[in-house]
Amino acid sequence: MAKGKTTVFYCQSCGHESAKWLGQCPACREWNTFVEETIEKKSAGRTAKERAAAGPVCLSSIEIKEQDRISTRMEELDRVLGGGIVPGSLVLVGGDPGIGKSTLLLQVCRHLSADGKEVLYISGEESLKQIKLRAERIGHFSDRLLLLCETNLEIIGDTIRSRKPDAVIIDSIQTMYNEELSSAPGSVSQVRESTSVLMQIAKGLGVSVFIVGHVTKEGTVAGPRVLEHMVDTVLYFEGDRHASYRILRGVKNRFGSTNEIGVFEMRENGLSEVENPSEFMLSGRPEQASGSIVACSMEGTRPILLEIQALACHSTLAVPRRTAAGMDYNRVNLLLAVLEKRLNLKLGNSDVYVNIAGGIRISEPAIDLGVVLAVVSSYKNRPIDEKTLVFGEVGLSGEVRSVSQASQRVQEAKKLGFTTVILPEVCREQIGQVEGIRLCGVRTAGDAVRLIDN
Ligand code: TYD
Ligand code: MG
Repeated sequence: MAKGKTTVFYCQSCGHESAKWLGQCPACREWNTFVEETIEKKSAGRTAKERAAAGPVCLSSIEIKEQDRISTRMEELDRVLGGGIVPGSLVLVGGDPGIGKSTLLLQVCRHLSADGKEVLYISGEESLKQIKLRAERIGHFSDRLLLLCETNLEIIGDTIRSRKPDAVIIDSIQTMYNEELSSAPGSVSQVRESTSVLMQIAKGLGVSVFIVGHVTKEGTVAGPRVLEHMVDTVLYFEGDRHASYRILRGVKNRFGSTNEIGVFEMRENGLSEVENPSEFMLSGRPEQASGSIVACSMEGTRPILLEIQALACHSTLAVPRRTAAGMDYNRVNLLLAVLEKRLNLKLGNSDVYVNIAGGIRISEPAIDLGVVLAVVSSYKNRPIDEKTLVFGEVGLSGEVRSVSQASQRVQEAKKLGFTTVILPEVCREQIGQVEGIRLCGVRTAGDAVRLIDN
């Protein structure tokens, strides 16, 4: 083997590195995902030398300038980015194919170019005509937007260096390739190398770079998870591809909070912002149906109301079926166990399905009490008053524990016309009275169930 060249096996699903071929990846447990790739040691040596040349500096001598953020003129996206685009930052936008990554970034291009910024959109997936067709659906574009169909990273690098645009979109990183590497585009080493080249360009020239990354289950395309640690910000699209709404969630952000979400709706003319997500999430709610209740979850700084649906029905299986969509499966099992033990609800021969309507995923325990009440309501086939909102964490002994920002949640409920809020007693004591809304503090899940029974 030539000097400086080694071959390594990479898991194409998670990027795990191994010296020899393995049938199953020890990191992500996927089968048959290892592919041999040739690695040249050259690039690693180059960066090490550059780093040494810079030399250490003392902390007090570093000046911090308030970064001028560039607004994308889409408030939902700005919020997820932490207040706009930071010049020289590298942003990864991930999500399933067809969810709207290209559409969102083309809209960003449209707004930036209309604001007088020079934007370069590089597509390795679609032809210029296809991009034009999409652009025509979105609206009028300024001449400051330049398009390039290219997959060779060297040419892309040269173009960026000569044009010096304010922002660059790379659609997608899986199609880009570096001639120096022999592996195929989309393989782990190509994706990693391409990202590091783009990072050097972004940091060196102060250009903001958006990278599109596909997440697929098949082993052929490297998941963008391997680049998460290289980029500054990681945004993921959530939501059902078949439904019209899309949720953009910040997973990592060096320049802001990662709790924020942006809600969009896919329309005929591209993605439009949803200003009041609660209203949107609750649209199409069934009337007077058992097993449905509205809960409140905080997503970053915003309270979002959502409908929790449960269906408990007689099981014909030896082991009853339990499913959870939109929340943690184990959490649902835990709550069902609490119901069984503390409230004497015999769920042992019932199938239980829990779903959070709207395709959103919630990990906040504040929705626990909502799940409990929805299951009880379905089990007893007793609808809950539709103007009732509920929030609170449920502990293993059936106690209802306090949650943060209770008064903000109550205000949101009031804004959307709810008349009753069931909440932890501790939170009720903190809030006191709120005009126009009845607050029912509960100490245990049993108290809450008795409230809806009446
Ligand atoms: P796209 O941005 O191509 O997805 P990705 O780049 O993430 O693969 O989104 C394509 C989907 O969006 C496609 O199913 C068509 C739909 N769409 C609309 O509904 N309205 C529109 O205005 C546009 C541009 C796309
Ligand atoms: Mg696309």
